[in-house]
Amino acid sequence: MFLMAITFKIYKVVFAICLIFAFIASNEANKNGLYVGCGSSEDEIDADGRTWEPDLKYISYGDKSMVATAEKQDPSLPSPTPFTNARIVTSETSYILPLGQIGNSTKRILLRLYFYPSLYPNFDVFDSFFSVTSGDFTLLSNFSAVITAEALSQSYIIKEYMLASPLDQSLIVVTLMPAEKSFAFINGIEVLQAPEVFDKDPILAGSDSGSGVDSSALTVANKSMQTMYRLNVGGSFISPSNDSGNLLRSWYNDSPYVVGQGITSHANMTIGYNRDVASFIAPLDVYKSSRSMGPDPNINKQFNLTWIFEAEPSFAYIVRFHWCDFVADKINQRVFNIYINNHTAQDVADVYAWTNGKGVPMKKDYMIFVNDKNGNNELRIELQPSISSNPQWFDSLLNGLEIFKISDSKRNLAGPNPSKSIMMAKKIDDEKRSAAIKSTAAYIGGGVAVFGLAAVAVLVVYNREKKVLREGKSSWLLPIYGRISRSSTGKSSLSAKKSQGSIHLSLDAASNCRYFSLSEIKQATKNFSESRVIGVGGFGKVYKGKIDGNTTVAIKRSNPSSEQGVNEFQTEIEMLSKLRHKHLVSLIGFCEEGNEMALVYDYMGLGTFREHLYKENKQTLSWKQRLEICIGAARGLHYLHTGAQYMIIHRDVKTTNILLDDNMVAKVSDFGLSKTGSDMNEGHVSTVVKGSFGYLDPEYFRRQQLTEKSDVYSFGVVLFESLSARPALNSKLPKEQVSLSDYALHCQRNGCLEDITDPELKGKINTESLNKYAETAEKCLAKHGVDRPSMGDVLWNLECALQLQEHPNSPKLYQQEKEHEDEKTSGESSDQKDLLAMHRNTLSLESLDDDDFPLPAYKGL
Ligand SMILES: *[C@@H]1O[C@H](CO)[C@@H](O)[C@H](O)[C@H]1NC(C)=O
Ligand SMILES: *[C@@H]1O[C@H](CO)[C@@H](O)[C@H](O)[C@H]1NC(C)=O
Ligand SMILES: *[C@@H]1O[C@H](CO)[C@@H](O)[C@H](O)[C@H]1NC(C)=O
Ligand SMILES: *[C@@H]1O[C@H](CO)[C@@H](O)[C@H](O)[C@H]1NC(C)=O
Ligand SMILES: *[C@@H]1O[C@H](CO)[C@@H](O)[C@H](O)[C@H]1NC(C)=O
Ligand SMILES: *[C@@H]1O[C@H](CO)[C@@H](O)[C@H](O)[C@H]1NC(C)=O
Ligand SMILES: *[C@@H]1O[C@H](CO)[C@@H](O)[C@H](O)[C@H]1NC(C)=O
Ligand SMILES: *[C@@H]1O[C@H](CO)[C@@H](O)[C@H](O)[C@H]1NC(C)=O
Repeated sequence: MFLMAITFKIYKVVFAICLIFAFIASNEANKNGLYVGCGSSEDEIDADGRTWEPDLKYISYGDKSMVATAEKQDPSLPSPTPFTNARIVTSETSYILPLGQIGNSTKRILLRLYFYPSLYPNFDVFDSFFSVTSGDFTLLSNFSAVITAEALSQSYIIKEYMLASPLDQSLIVVTLMPAEKSFAFINGIEVLQAPEVFDKDPILAGSDSGSGVDSSALTVANKSMQTMYRLNVGGSFISPSNDSGNLLRSWYNDSPYVVGQGITSHANMTIGYNRDVASFIAPLDVYKSSRSMGPDPNINKQFNLTWIFEAEPSFAYIVRFHWCDFVADKINQRVFNIYINNHTAQDVADVYAWTNGKGVPMKKDYMIFVNDKNGNNELRIELQPSISSNPQWFDSLLNGLEIFKISDSKRNLAGPNPSKSIMMAKKIDDEKRSAAIKSTAAYIGGGVAVFGLAAVAVLVVYNREKKVLREGKSSWLLPIYGRISRSSTGKSSLSAKKSQGSIHLSLDAASNCRYFSLSEIKQATKNFSESRVIGVGGFGKVYKGKIDGNTTVAIKRSNPSSEQGVNEFQTEIEMLSKLRHKHLVSLIGFCEEGNEMALVYDYMGLGTFREHLYKENKQTLSWKQRLEICIGAARGLHYLHTGAQYMIIHRDVKTTNILLDDNMVAKVSDFGLSKTGSDMNEGHVSTVVKGSFGYLDPEYFRRQQLTEKSDVYSFGVVLFESLSARPALNSKLPKEQVSLSDYALHCQRNGCLEDITDPELKGKINTESLNKYAETAEKCLAKHGVDRPSMGDVLWNLECALQLQEHPNSPKLYQQEKEHEDEKTSGESSDQKDLLAMHRNTLSLESLDDDDFPLPAYKGL
């Protein structure tokens, strides 16, 4: 036995040496990182441009026989790579990962493990329990990726470790050990070299009160750690590619964890690195945004600015505070005390005094031990104005926060599988309530994956999904969006209706809006006859009806058991009643009686834009007609974005939401009139979300922030759809053509636009017009929202394309273009307007009828 172990060791070392020579070269391309795509057979590039290599050559011993490909790609994945492929092992299996040239300053190895517990053919992730070790550190033990994902409402798990650098080695070993009769799986391994980020020993919180940590633990330079949270306090999500120091960290927004709000601010001055804070410590964006308490000292004295996190007991944690006070300009202006779990971590923190200047970044580490007492599994961080110092402002401040779990004396970092957190569930509920009218961004603002510990996404109706998975039915862990649309509305349906009573409309809305009685509505729809159903939305069914004798209307009925509550209903009325525009479908009135709610809209005689493009064998639209329809829709969207009191983001721009009246005038609508749906039962959400997915802005997924540029993206897809007369997603086409946005961009960039141009249009489009149009559509699909044009620009360019079609070579055009440019530079300040996302529940009205879409190869992500 002993001998065997030794032979094994020697074998490993010999193997490792060979590996090092073989891979130092290939490592060069990825600079300081190694990205191993487990189970993949070729190099794959992820959304951030990193190349993930196949894993086989790094497996030193163990089970090399099985790989699998996930059957679904959850849209919440930041990128298909490395999540899609998995390595599956049934016996102990080791990866040897060469570190390449160890840099002089390398003191830490960042190790990230990627798990995507999805549907795989022939194996069931529910049966997978395993341990992961690296060297003699235990990173995970009896780990179930699916249980963890369930508890955190995430579709994938990324675990990040900051390992003390192996001094004399140029490799690290990662070993998977399946539990008995089980198997292990992993999707990706990422290894990066980093300087020592823990350059100073932490201050022990509450050292006076016996916190249970012996002082030797205070030296952290040689300790390995796991990242638990990393937050850009008061700021927005920072993606790995925007991290500093080449460390590819994700920084999440802190709002899911903060209690008692406070206010956020952004620096209006230049901030730079210094001796204490080098670029690898944190990106400057972390220091440029902050959260503080507010202007009223009397209120501030009454509360603590507090963040609450979940923690695994029996571990010590390092809590790193990042500060930069870009407002205070003398000492004793802003002085506060810091408590961690009721222990005093710092008396009288004065950032200005510490940094001796305004706008100077700093960091400070504190350590806390979380006891194994019953129920003590939280980490509570509180900032309290220091009354005793009598500062000028009675305020506190935080810019960034990181929490690391320190390995224990047994070199263990593994905790038990989490169970679903009551705290998180409550938090999510609160968020939902407070955000009900404001903005959708709030729901997703929390970020999706905070290192596999606690992320606030949204409540999953998990059990059902699990059942679906078990039964091998379609999607599991439905895309975040599916959940948002249901959960955001879920709570407030019937019970809310009963307790809240009726709708309260503003005078303004009421005067613009007509009230219908239920009997009028019933009469109009023949008692909600199925024969009158013309569509199905997230809200309920849509009926064609007649009012006042001969006026045809569309009536959207809230399914009494549907999930849209009074608030949403009210919001929609409030908003739509004020929106009057030639290119928006208008609301005529509403009905609310008993449990019934209904909205009455103008009826659009010619149906959806989409059905005129393909499918219904209608007469082919000419290029001019298509342009006019797109221009109309663009005007409608432009108005939504800029014309109303608040910026309104449509969120569900697609060809089925562009309706045509009897005169073929395009009107943007929010509900899927064309869907002859019969599947508003369980499971519809999956088709639903996949269906709309072809239009969804990939950046919206990644950054989790909704802007009007997401509509611009979707509109870009609409433009290509109009040109090519094919669906945004079509699974029947070859793989590279499935997603219209990918394929059209490919064609546009490679000058083969004719490949996607509707054959009916060939030879009938003026080349210049086509170029203008395609360029515009391409810009709409820019990867980053900031690079996309505004709807106003899109509109102007489309008008230009129309002119080029009608009057080729008109010299007037170019002059106009110039004027337009001037106008553009002078009038840019609408960004400040509040975001008000319209129709939160309608993101995903419908599928594209082709039953089972695989998700597109969304390279753009
Ligand atoms: C790293 O060490 C080598 C040899 O000791 C030295 O030549 C090189 O300049 C050092 N590089 C840096 C960046 O300090
Ligand atoms: C492994 O975890 C599962 C689920 O958390 C638990 O039921 C089981 O008892 C654990 N097994 C061991 C050996 O700890
Ligand atoms: C990185 O930051 C820049 C500037 O803030 C932003 O425009 C860009 O979208 C960010 N990239 C990602 C991938 O988030
Ligand atoms: C920056 O903000 C401070 C206070 O918030 C204000 O006094 C100052 O005028 C601002 N400076 C600029 C250049 O806007
Ligand atoms: C901290 O104090 C609050 C109230 O003062 C109490 O509810 C909470 O349990 C305490 N937390 C810890 C970790 O002792
Ligand atoms: C602020 O936190 C400290 C330490 O946990 C606690 O003693 C104090 O009561 C808190 N103050 C308020 C207003 O909650
Ligand atoms: C609708 O239903 C009521 C009773 O439920 C019935 O009296 C009425 O005739 C029906 N109207 C139509 C148009 O079917
Ligand atoms: C329908 O309404 C129009 C005007 O709104 C009117 O001229 C026409 O006579 C009406 N037809 C019927 C059948 O009531």
